[in-house]
Amino acid sequence: MESLFFNSTHLHITTWVIAIILFFIAVSKYSTGAHMALRLFYILVLITGLLLFIRHHGINDMLYGMKMLAGILTIGLMEMVLVRKKKGKDTSKVLIGAIVLLIVTLYLGFKLPMGLNFFA
Ligand code: HEM
Repeated sequence: MESLFFNSTHLHITTWVIAIILFFIAVSKYSTGAHMALRLFYILVLITGLLLFIRHHGINDMLYGMKMLAGILTIGLMEMVLVRKKKGKDTSKVLIGAIVLLIVTLYLGFKLPMGLNFFA
């Protein structure tokens, strides 16, 4: 259990993949159900990310700090998109912001040394 939570990226990947799917479902057709489920997954992404961060940030404090910040900002922007969507407001700018931050977060995650390293 200990190594699953702290030393492997599998749980973290599982949670953000599900979060991204729920996000695009809610963006294409807003429903409170998808939005609530997504909010639960924000928490799971945060918890699994924080556990990895706590154990491994010493490898490169600067890049791990940026990865955490990018991840938190991605979640913040995803939530802003859906709140605006729910209120019937224009979402194009925040949606672009969310996607840009998502790409930055994916890039940093795959660059950092745990798990997969596509951009190392
Ligand atoms: C939508 C949000 C997020 C996405 C898409 C995301 C994506 C990723 C990806 C692609 C990886 C690399 C996995 C691997 O190489 O096997 C990763 C690892 C990691 N993530 Fe996230 N993440 C998100 C949120 C967060 C948050 C909020 C935190 C911190 C609170 C966080 C902290 C970490 C840490 C510490 C790692 C390990 C880095 C390493 O590979 O050495 N992530 N994440």
